[in-house]
Amino acid sequence: MTLLEGCVGVEDLVLLEPLEQEPLLRNLQLRYEKKEIYTYIGNVLISVNPYQQLPIYGPEFIAKYRDYTFYELKPHIYALANEAYQSLRDRDRDQCILITGESGAGKTEASKLVMSYVAAVCGKGEQVNSVKEQLLQSNPVLEAFGNAKTIRNNNSSRFGKYMDIEFDFKGSPLGGVITNYLLEKSRVVKQLEGERNFHIFYQLLAGADAHLLKALKLERDTSGYTYLNQKVSRVDGMDDTSNFKAVQSAMTVIGFSEEEIQQVLEVTALVLKLGNVELADEFQANGISASGIQDGRGIQEIGEMMGLKSEELEKALCSRTMKTAKEKVVTALNVIQAQYARDALAKNIYSRLFNWIVNRINESIKVGTGEKKKVMGVLDIYGFEILEDNSFEQFVINYCNEKLQQVFIEMTLKEEQEEYEREGIPWTKVDYFDNGIICNLIEHNQRGILAMLDEECLRPGVVSDSTFLAKLNQLFSKHNHYESKVTQNAQHQYDHTMGLSSFRICHYAGKVTYNVKSFIDKNNDLLFRDLSEAMWKARHPLLRSLFPEGDPKQASLKRPPTAGAQFKNSVAILMKNLYSKNPNYIRCIKPNEHQQQGQFSSEVVDVQTRYLGLLENVRVRRAGYAYRQRYGPFLERYRLLSRSTWPRWNGGDREGVEKVVGELSLSSEELAFGKMKIFIRSPKTLFFLEEQRRLRLQQLATIIQKTYRGWRCRAHYQLMRKSQIVISAWFRGNRQRILYGKIKSSVLLIQAFVRGWKARKDYRKYFRSGAALTLSNFIYKSITQKFLLGLKDNLPSTNILDSTWPAAPYRCFHTANQELQQLFYRWKCKKFLDRLSPKQVEILREKVCASELFKGKKASYPQSVPIPFHGDYIGLQGNPKLQKLTNGMDGPVLMAETVKKVNRGNGKISSRILLLTKGHVILIDTKKSQPKTVIGLDSVAGVSVTSFKDGLFSLHMSEISSVGSKGDFLLVSEHVIELLTRMSRAVLDATQKQLPVTVTENFSVRLKESSVTIKVIQGPEGGRNGKLSCKKKGSRGLEVTV
Ligand SMILES: Nc1ncnc2c1ncn2[C@@H]1O[C@H](COP(=O)(O)OP(=O)(O)OP(=O)(O)O)[C@@H](O)[C@H]1O
Ligand SMILES: [Mg+2]
Repeated sequence: MTLLEGCVGVEDLVLLEPLEQEPLLRNLQLRYEKKEIYTYIGNVLISVNPYQQLPIYGPEFIAKYRDYTFYELKPHIYALANEAYQSLRDRDRDQCILITGESGAGKTEASKLVMSYVAAVCGKGEQVNSVKEQLLQSNPVLEAFGNAKTIRNNNSSRFGKYMDIEFDFKGSPLGGVITNYLLEKSRVVKQLEGERNFHIFYQLLAGADAHLLKALKLERDTSGYTYLNQKVSRVDGMDDTSNFKAVQSAMTVIGFSEEEIQQVLEVTALVLKLGNVELADEFQANGISASGIQDGRGIQEIGEMMGLKSEELEKALCSRTMKTAKEKVVTALNVIQAQYARDALAKNIYSRLFNWIVNRINESIKVGTGEKKKVMGVLDIYGFEILEDNSFEQFVINYCNEKLQQVFIEMTLKEEQEEYEREGIPWTKVDYFDNGIICNLIEHNQRGILAMLDEECLRPGVVSDSTFLAKLNQLFSKHNHYESKVTQNAQHQYDHTMGLSSFRICHYAGKVTYNVKSFIDKNNDLLFRDLSEAMWKARHPLLRSLFPEGDPKQASLKRPPTAGAQFKNSVAILMKNLYSKNPNYIRCIKPNEHQQQGQFSSEVVDVQTRYLGLLENVRVRRAGYAYRQRYGPFLERYRLLSRSTWPRWNGGDREGVEKVVGELSLSSEELAFGKMKIFIRSPKTLFFLEEQRRLRLQQLATIIQKTYRGWRCRAHYQLMRKSQIVISAWFRGNRQRILYGKIKSSVLLIQAFVRGWKARKDYRKYFRSGAALTLSNFIYKSITQKFLLGLKDNLPSTNILDSTWPAAPYRCFHTANQELQQLFYRWKCKKFLDRLSPKQVEILREKVCASELFKGKKASYPQSVPIPFHGDYIGLQGNPKLQKLTNGMDGPVLMAETVKKVNRGNGKISSRILLLTKGHVILIDTKKSQPKTVIGLDSVAGVSVTSFKDGLFSLHMSEISSVGSKGDFLLVSEHVIELLTRMSRAVLDATQKQLPVTVTENFSVRLKESSVTIKVIQGPEGGRNGKLSCKKKGSRGLEVTV
């Protein structure tokens, strides 16, 4: 044996040298003593029960094993669980974990470790966690109801359990299905010495509070119950009280309602109480023995709890009704029969309750049918059992183990070797023991022990366990694996261990002697119809539902299948299930018979390793290949490792595989190419391949990630761009639409206006607005008419001096009225003029001329207006002297008047007669009537007058005039207005020039060579009286007061 570095013994028995039984045992012992309880044979795990808690479990170890591959760390159950889970998740292969071994070898513990590992590494999340919890919590419930203390194991599974855990494609648990196999129900009523009934009874009595106990009508003391073994009520290291609490909470987690839990406990209590029903002999009148119930109170309580009259229950327990086609016969049962009936009822209630619990758990953890599932099955079935007195239960248990051994042989030893031959791989056959013959002995359809048993059960006539044994003896007298007293006698063998009512089977794991007593009964598994009918009548809902066949409507005369046949069928289904999955083996070994830690009994282990065929297993393993796979799936898995096969390979699968492994330059010894499969010798090579694949996957994942990210970004960008285009198109469209709308409405408005305008133009005449114009025109015309007609009728007098004129009735006529007024005035004037004689016209002309010259300028003018111009104020006609003077003159005298002449030098005044002719002004001395001065009108340069009422005026001479030498004249006339008017007209006529008339109070008067400045001051009279006084002011100034 080689001791590898850091290892205790060899971790994989494949490496064992020499390959013999002895070193194999020593290796296991060595490792066990160093607390290395796990050892491999290839991928098979050997687990030796340590009977102590080792510090190799828990989250820390789980974390460690999940990150490494199978052979990288020490052998461990976690490594196997990890391998199975990863293969399920990554290779999509359904898995089963077959845990085998004797009772107490550690199967149940192993199954729990596997489940807890898988629960820890599989997906997380609220939903997943609750599924996990439900799956894990099914264990304490099933253990409470299905496990019991036996001599071999304090927590022995008394039922077989196969649990399918179902996963989704990601490897997260979805739920599961539990299948249970044949509960050892005989334990309910009877236990071997040193053994206990099922845990739940003790847990209930220890853990239930007083209130619950009262409700269940129970007492805490276990000694009060016949069905509970009085001697062993406690198990070391097992706390029934806390376990009861754990069971209750587990049931709640799984989904049992409060009511359901209560009902389950009630039925459990009923079973206990049934055990206390004491039956006693009673005799009937006909002398036939009958039975009756002694303890009236007990049956009363049971009846109350069941919801059934105690009389009915008593009747069902103590009598039996036989029905024929015509009549019904009731027979009384004697005490033995009644006790049998009572125990049968208790066993049936309990085993049916157990089935109900399993079904109820399944209901909670079941997975919808639609989901695609991957399955991991965990098989924890009762271990191979050899008791002192082996009965029907041990027979089926051992049959089951035989079948499991067959699976192991088929799948590891037989199948493997056959496969090498099939695939054409050079192979030297390894011998092993094939237990097919034993399986056949038991299960053969016509000639198997189970078939014989069924035949006996169904056969009419007297049947008993001994007739059954006789049949076996007859049939298997020559069978190598069958023995009995009869066959031994035939061969003249003497064996005191073999009883008369026994037969022995040489199982793969050893010889087991079975006592045929009650084989027939147990196989029949019949419950008197009276009992099932009574149970069905009970009002307790759960109890009633456990006995559906009690319903008279359901009564069928067909026999239900026997227990053996049922078991055989379920084992067949199980086998089919296991064969369809990838097996992972855990072979549990019990190190000693005393459940002692640290004790390694070579004999005990030797037996187990031999019958488990470990040595053969190692041999096959060693010569063979650790891994094989069909070319197709292998290529599918590893083709990514070669550039020629990735991403596409068009050739055949085998060529593809050769290409892949060729490129990886694997050693040729490591590989073998079969007809359909490739074989890989050592796990190392497989791990190498896996590692390469992992690295390549990372690479590919990066490429996929890169491509995906690029694609996502591009897609996102394109989406954004599209969206942006859509948005901008919409925006622009909308903007244009709004603009267009505006333009359109504007155009329509303009159009409407234009059209309206045009239409209005054409139809204006019809419009009311036209009417208004017409009306207004009409009104205007009519008021104009009225105004004018009114004016016509009210014209003021035609007297031209009358300037009255009616006011315009409306302001609009104001201008017109003014013009009309002027027109009228002119017309009046014209009419007036037309009426005048030429003379009057001449007079008016003079007056007009006077007005032009003096109106508004001279204060005496207004008085002069009404006085006609006489012209002659000196009586020229009557004065011949003067007439004579004028005779030679040019034309008639225009003006003759006496004026005063003011001496320019001294201011003295002298009178003169002034005559004005058409061409001259003549000043005549009044006394001498001699012309003193004759002034030609053409030499008169201008006239100056004052603005006052006086008659003072100055005649300004032009310098070239003949009289100019005398200078200007300063004269005073009483008719100064008339005089100057006529003079002006005469000057105009004579010279065609206007005579300049200056109205001023300060003017200068030229003398011969000088000039005098005249200043006129208004006196108190204002010049009206014609008086004036002159005052010299300096040499050149003269102040005249008028
Ligand atoms: N890995 C382990 N570590 C510690 N103790 C263990 C281990 N495996 C088993 N045991 C101990 O051995 C006892 C028996 O184990 P278990 O109940 O699993 O046996 P079994 O093979 O299921 O037997 P049965 O066929 O009677 O049900 C356990 O109660 C436990 O005390
Ligand atoms: Mg177990």
